Amino acid sequence: MAQVKAKYLKDYRAPDHTITQVDLSFVLDGANTQVTAVSQVRRVNDTAKTLVLDGESLTVSQLLVNGQAHEYREVEGQLHLDTDLASFELTIVTQLDPQANLALEGLYMSDGAYCTQCEAEGFRRITYFLDRPDVLAVYSVRIEADKAAFPYLLSNGNRVDSGDLGNGRHFVCWQDPFPKPAYLFALVAGDFDLLSDSFTTKSGREVALQVFVDKGNLHKAHHAMLSLKKSMAWDESRFDLEYDLDIYMIVAVDFFNMGAMENKGLNVFNTKYVLADKDSATDEDYHGIESVVGHEYFHNWTGNRVTCRDWFQLSLKEGLTVFRDQEFSSDMGSRAVNRIHAIKVIKNQQFAEDSGPMAHAIRPDSVIEMNNFYTVTVYNKGAEVIRMMHTLLGEQGFQAGMKCYFERHDGQAVTCDDFVAAMEDASGVDLSQFRRWYSQSGTPELTILEAYDADKQAYRLTVSQHTPATPDQSEKLPLHIPLDLELIASDGRSLLSQVFSVTETEQELVFSEMAERPVPSLLQNFSAPVRLKFDYSVEQLIHLMRYASSEVAKWEASAALFSQAVWGNVEHLKAQQSMYVDPRLVDAVKGLLLDEALDKALLAEVLNFPSLNTLVEQVGQVDLDALAAAREFLIEEIASGCEDELVARYRELASQDDAGARALKNACLTLLLQMSDAHQVLAQRQYEQANNMTDSLGALAALNQEASQLRDSLLSDFQQKWADTPLVMDKWLTLHACCPGEDRVTALRELTLHSAFSFSNPNRVRSLIGAFAAANPLSFHQPDGSGYRFLTEAIIKLNTLNPQVAARIITPLIQFKKFDEQRQKLMRAALEEILALPDLSKDLYEKVSKALA
Ligand code: BES
Ligand code: ZN
Repeated sequence: MAQVKAKYLKDYRAPDHTITQVDLSFVLDGANTQVTAVSQVRRVNDTAKTLVLDGESLTVSQLLVNGQAHEYREVEGQLHLDTDLASFELTIVTQLDPQANLALEGLYMSDGAYCTQCEAEGFRRITYFLDRPDVLAVYSVRIEADKAAFPYLLSNGNRVDSGDLGNGRHFVCWQDPFPKPAYLFALVAGDFDLLSDSFTTKSGREVALQVFVDKGNLHKAHHAMLSLKKSMAWDESRFDLEYDLDIYMIVAVDFFNMGAMENKGLNVFNTKYVLADKDSATDEDYHGIESVVGHEYFHNWTGNRVTCRDWFQLSLKEGLTVFRDQEFSSDMGSRAVNRIHAIKVIKNQQFAEDSGPMAHAIRPDSVIEMNNFYTVTVYNKGAEVIRMMHTLLGEQGFQAGMKCYFERHDGQAVTCDDFVAAMEDASGVDLSQFRRWYSQSGTPELTILEAYDADKQAYRLTVSQHTPATPDQSEKLPLHIPLDLELIASDGRSLLSQVFSVTETEQELVFSEMAERPVPSLLQNFSAPVRLKFDYSVEQLIHLMRYASSEVAKWEASAALFSQAVWGNVEHLKAQQSMYVDPRLVDAVKGLLLDEALDKALLAEVLNFPSLNTLVEQVGQVDLDALAAAREFLIEEIASGCEDELVARYRELASQDDAGARALKNACLTLLLQMSDAHQVLAQRQYEQANNMTDSLGALAALNQEASQLRDSLLSDFQQKWADTPLVMDKWLTLHACCPGEDRVTALRELTLHSAFSFSNPNRVRSLIGAFAAANPLSFHQPDGSGYRFLTEAIIKLNTLNPQVAARIITPLIQFKKFDEQRQKLMRAALEEILALPDLSKDLYEKVSKALA
């Protein structure tokens, strides 16, 4: 295995040289593609005698300094060039083979089109360069290619020239006036359908908007375009931020490692986050498109105009931009439902990461492979940290902070500390202790005890915080935790609602003039990414479900009630007692089903009981089989107790045509089918009569909870209908991956040979193999180890093909400490096999070696 060295934040040094201007010329010609880079290099450290450039898998055919051939050497993958010139022009010509690039980093081909992906460190696969985000240059790009095959030649900025070259070839030149780091460079060449529109900014500038999609898909680009226009308008109204170029382009490609990329003026998107029509995309897909289009657009200010000094600061742009896209979604749709989705990501995935071998702070201290740090911690916990500042400063204070941040840092590459300093200076709120959220990893536990003194009419909460040690960090300090709480009287009146700052290891909150013991709604709206430990009684939770002012708090209470019931039955199973469900739970659910005033999407969230993965995350070690049995028992008991209400609600919703109604209808259907096969006919009818993908897929997913003939026949009908639509076939692959059953792996292995599957396309890999490992825990964790074997075989294949994707789908395998000894043994063995691979990628090495440490 190649030499692997971690890089440390503490070792950051400003570069010895910088590049202020680069003129790129691409001659696109398949395996003989040639790139000429002419860089204006300037020495910034007067004592520097060697220019050191990054490069990976490059063939240099020419290198000139000020037009003269110059000596250079290749040292550990970098290019060293001795010179003591204070400034000079460096010309480097490299030869590339984009067709052979299956890792999808640098310049590669997606279905016959050339495209690039440079974040984080992909530009160095195009030419030798100072490939670090604190080197900001102005780019001009000339692209030359065959005209018939590649009518569109795109890059960042504005189009400044174009022409025919005879011999069937043509060229286009682009100029981007805004200095940018290399990771924001992009090039696309291909033949597309083009959807055009325009947006007039609030200061009256007209911006051309273009969405490029594969031929024949124009009708599926409208929602993305609409989302883009909404994003532009929203960033003006909420953040006072305007777009800055004359053109904004989005290109959708089928081969893409991530969701989408914010390259300046030329976003490259995974087709999954662009293409949609009612027949082929679910309501969730529509929502995903709106949020990803928004996210990449919002990066234009938070990421591009102000960028990161180094990659340890990734959360500076990603945490902040996720916060912004979450706010956008909340302003466009249901704030409560969006918040619930964000909370679920933290509780299911981020808490898991924080308690596993890859635990890291939102600003990590050390990194082996940067691609491994595009994580739920950096992104989603990062967004929670921004949200906490928003809670502490208020919208006005926060917006003042943003304004100060842009005034100070527009055009610069900065750090997370710079951001916090702007927030602090503009608002006057002291964030010195709060800064620890950036450097400390792990999930704080917030334990709260209550006491009521009837004589003194005083209610007291004792709040203590403790962050367990993580593999990367043994010492933990107390954090500044905003604790939003409401006190509710027995008649449902709200007695108080306020945000408190918890800063000590232990502190007390005393509330006087309490005529009776109130019910506390704690950590409202999930005001901090912590594990709340409070011993709620069933009555208290039911009280909160009924009276909490916040819809999110109602949902939290219901989820806590269900989780408690499941864990209670796990204990019963352990003690070999029979399981039991408190009738008050059934009544509570019945009450909600009968409450016509309750928001439907919210009720759907309540009825989607905590998943097995969510429950696994709530404890240190888990008996998976007992947990699954207890969860199933609870759902069946509740569903059968509410059968009439579920059927009635389902019927009433069947004719309604809005996303909330569909979500609730599918939640009811799922419960009914889990309870009894007798309801299969409902799913069958829904599938047959569906006029949209949400309904079709909802019926299939409800049926997919167990094996049946109907399930098989509808799945094969679905396959025939959608054989030519890869994004829909991905849903079909995921249904197969998520079907329970002991021998899933045989079927899945066969599916890897199906024409709908391919190891070289990340969407296909994620839909089948990624979904199996992450979303079908019972099959993945089969005691015979077959699930682990299946994932391991795929990872071994992907290790050389696409290391980034391999390292992403391995996540469930490195969380082995949660499981019983037998499973741990099998999981470790699989990891050891991977670690022993002769050509192991850095990506996998980092995760596997940490897991086994
Ligand atoms: N900058 C990233 C895309 C990226 C990440 C490219 C890592 C290369 C390596 C982009 O802004 C992003 O964060 N995309 C997310 C979607 C977003 C809505 C959170 C993604 O691709 O998953
Ligand atoms: Zn992003």
